[in-house]
Amino acid sequence: MNEQADKCAVKLAPSILAADFARLGEMVIQAERAGANRIHVDVMDGHFVPNISLGAPIVKSLRQVTRLPLEIHLMICDPDFFLDEFVEAGSDSFIVHWEGNNNLHRTIQRVKNLGKGIGLAINPATPASVLEEVLRELDFVLVMTVNPGFGHQHFIHSMLPKIQRVRQMIRQIRPNCELELDGGIDAATAQLGVAAGADVLVAGTSIFCDQDGVDIAMARLRTATEDALKLEKG
Ligand code: DX5
Ligand code: ZN
Repeated sequence: MNEQADKCAVKLAPSILAADFARLGEMVIQAERAGANRIHVDVMDGHFVPNISLGAPIVKSLRQVTRLPLEIHLMICDPDFFLDEFVEAGSDSFIVHWEGNNNLHRTIQRVKNLGKGIGLAINPATPASVLEEVLRELDFVLVMTVNPGFGHQHFIHSMLPKIQRVRQMIRQIRPNCELELDGGIDAATAQLGVAAGADVLVAGTSIFCDQDGVDIAMARLRTATEDALKLEKG
């Protein structure tokens, strides 16, 4: 058993990228009622990733409809430039990428000085070892289980050994740091991810595009994570 298995539950962070934007508030309220732990907001600028998505005004609107923490996944070239705007809109934590940031330590300190949670994302091609020097500063690590930029992609199974390595590093260096996965999470991959050491799961498609609705979709994911933790405990 590991310290992750000691925790009562895996956290779920629905990603609004897969929601119907015409009914966004309603869908977020549904996710909150169904037991979501935080709301994941994907911000893309068309440069860092080949897609554009949404900005601070959406966060400001969401802040009016939910009390859940809003975590902002910044897939943009100059995260520092936009931090104040997102804080003003009501963001609670930021996920910045290791890739392409020449001043990562400064970005991390800026987020901390703003009094917000800080997570670091690593892309599929980036090794776990890059975390070594920054892990002590982080509230969570986000392992991308798809290449960033789009929803509705397939989970990359070869990420599982990396997830295990990150769990190991967290255990040794910063046990309070959360390990979050993002991309292609459904009931089957949730189970694999939790077994590998994840304690937070981002899910868009499997929550907001499920024909049975948000409630049933969330329950399905929750059951999958509980099954994985039970197996872990033996
Ligand atoms: C991808 C985003 C993800 C995405 C996950 O770049 O970071 O958060 O919304 O969506 P699904 O669950 O559809 O893979
Ligand atoms: Zn994301």
